[in-house]
Amino acid sequence: MLPNYFDRDVAERYDDTEDAMFSPEVLGPTVDLLAELAGDRPALELAIGTGRVALPLSERGVRVHGIELSEAMVDQLRAKPGADRIEVAIGDMTSARVEGGFGLVYLVFNTIGNVTTQDGQVAVFETAAAHLEPGGCFVIETGVPILRRLPSGERFAVFDHTDGHVGVDEYDVATQLMWSHHYTSTDATTYTRSSLPLRYAWPAELDLMARIAGLRLRDRWSDWDRSAFTGESTKHVSVWVKP
Ligand SMILES: C[S@@+](CC[C@H](N)C(=O)[O-])C[C@H]1O[C@@H](n2cnc3c(N)ncnc32)[C@H](O)[C@@H]1O
Repeated sequence: MLPNYFDRDVAERYDDTEDAMFSPEVLGPTVDLLAELAGDRPALELAIGTGRVALPLSERGVRVHGIELSEAMVDQLRAKPGADRIEVAIGDMTSARVEGGFGLVYLVFNTIGNVTTQDGQVAVFETAAAHLEPGGCFVIETGVPILRRLPSGERFAVFDHTDGHVGVDEYDVATQLMWSHHYTSTDATTYTRSSLPLRYAWPAELDLMARIAGLRLRDRWSDWDRSAFTGESTKHVSVWVKP
C-alpha cells in the first residue's frame, strides 16, 4: 500500500496553500497548451488532485478523465462546479488503467517525483503510453533538480522564503531522493513543518523512461508559454509522442 501524503487534512487545505498555482497567469498558458495538444480527443490527467487543471481544461470543451490515489483530494474536486463532467478512477498511476483511448495524458506540478523509485517512474510512462492513441502526447511539468546550487557536502537548498512559508529541499545525491520541507506559519513566529519525499530525475532520464514506454520526445520548453529550455531553466514542460 502506497503512503498517501495528501490525506483529508492536506486535501482540505490544498487549494488555499497552493493558491498561486490557481492564478490565471499560471493556469491560462497551462490550459492553452494542453487544450491544443488534446485537440478534439479526450485527455487523461494522472494525479488529478482537486482538479486545479482538469476543471478549466474541461471548461474549454476537452473531455477530461483522471486517475488519483487520494480519495480525499477527489472529494474536494467532486464538490466543485463542473466536476460532474470529469470521470475519476481512484488508483495508483503506476498501475491503474481506465477505459478508452486518449489524445493527451498529462502529469503536472512536479508530481512524477511523488513516485519515489525509478521502476515506478518508468511504470508511470507505461501507464501514459497504454492510454494514448497513436499520435497522442504525454506531457510532464516538473522541476530541474537544483543541484548546481549545492556546494560540495551541502544537502539543503532554500527554494522559497516568503511571509508564512519557508521551503527547503533536502537532497540525497546518492539515491536521487529528496525531501521537500515546508515550514508554514500564520503569525511568522511559530512554524509547522510538513515534508514530502520525492525522486528527482534529469530530463534526459525521463527521455529514456519515455523510450522504454515506446514514446519519443517531441518538445521541451522551460514553461507552459513555450519559452526555450536552456541550461538556466528551473523547470521543464516536456512532450513525448506515441508514434
Ligand atoms: C501536488 S498534487 C497535484 C495535484 C494536481 N495535479 C494539481 O496540479 O494541482 C499531487 C497529487 O498526486 C497524487 N498522487 C501521488 N502519488 C500518486 C500515485 N502514485 N498515483 C496517483 N496519484 C498520486 C496525490 O494524491 C496528489 O493529489
